[in-house]
Amino acid sequence: MRLSVPGHKDLRKIVLLNPKGGCGKSTLATNLAGYLAKQGNSVAIMDFDPQGSSMRWLKVRPGNSAPIHGISAFDLRSSATRSWQLRVPKSVRYLIVDSPASVPPESLAELTSGAHAILIPVLPSDIDVHAASLLMKDLLLIAKVSRRMGRIGVIANRVRENTVAYRKLMRFLHSLSISVVGVLKDSQNYVHSAERGLSIHEMPTSRMRADAERWEPIIKWLEEKLETPLTPRDFNRKEASGEVRPLPGDGYQARTRPSS
Ligand SMILES: Nc1ncnc2c1ncn2[C@@H]1O[C@H](COP(=O)(O)OP(=O)(O)OP(=O)(O)O)[C@@H](O)[C@H]1O
Ligand SMILES: [Mg+2]
Repeated sequence: MRLSVPGHKDLRKIVLLNPKGGCGKSTLATNLAGYLAKQGNSVAIMDFDPQGSSMRWLKVRPGNSAPIHGISAFDLRSSATRSWQLRVPKSVRYLIVDSPASVPPESLAELTSGAHAILIPVLPSDIDVHAASLLMKDLLLIAKVSRRMGRIGVIANRVRENTVAYRKLMRFLHSLSISVVGVLKDSQNYVHSAERGLSIHEMPTSRMRADAERWEPIIKWLEEKLETPLTPRDFNRKEASGEVRPLPGDGYQARTRPSS
């Protein structure tokens, strides 16, 4: 499956990424989409996950909730071109990319190219911490996502704060020199709101408040990244000339170097 994400110039792309299954990519993608849509923004979710979790969430979303455009990138038809099927409407400002489990390391560059923010949910377990350390290595060494641009943010997900597993996870995350942008609790609120096609930010009850407040640092971090203009380094592609240049549709206008 090809994982490149097309888009127009003014689009802000947020990629939810972690090849480890079940760490919360779709949960975070849908909650973020719901939050942004509720604020009055024009939002789309592009779902690369063959399980189609985000698309299912959109299907049960109530008709009177803030609209979110869905693009199912996992079941492209052969009768139409890929770029047509993955087109993001011009009106959409925020594109949330829900990526699949088991993304091979060589596809990470394609998936993260042109992203304003890359959010990585990690669960508090030894297996997940080990998988996350491999992912970080692949992102930095194979995909060449620049650490300097600071576009990678980790979210500790499904935590129970008074546990050894939580303390181990936080020790590991702090050792990475990559921002830990949020800590989300293991909470049934995520399960109940997902069943209704809503984010926890859109649920009508005050029982959600404590979980919703945990998103504040994540949103603050995102706002900063989304306003930081993309540079050639955010496109992860080296051409034969050694010059990094985005492909058409990546939303970055390349300036060609004058030939000497
Ligand atoms: N903070 C949370 N609290 C409670 N349950 C959660 C939380 N985050 C995710 N879950 C639950 O964990 C399960 C896996 O989450 P999710 O589907 O979002 O993971 P994923 O990374 O998208 O999985 P996959 O790799 O299979 O696509 C779901 O049942 C979801 O409801
Ligand atoms: Mg998923």
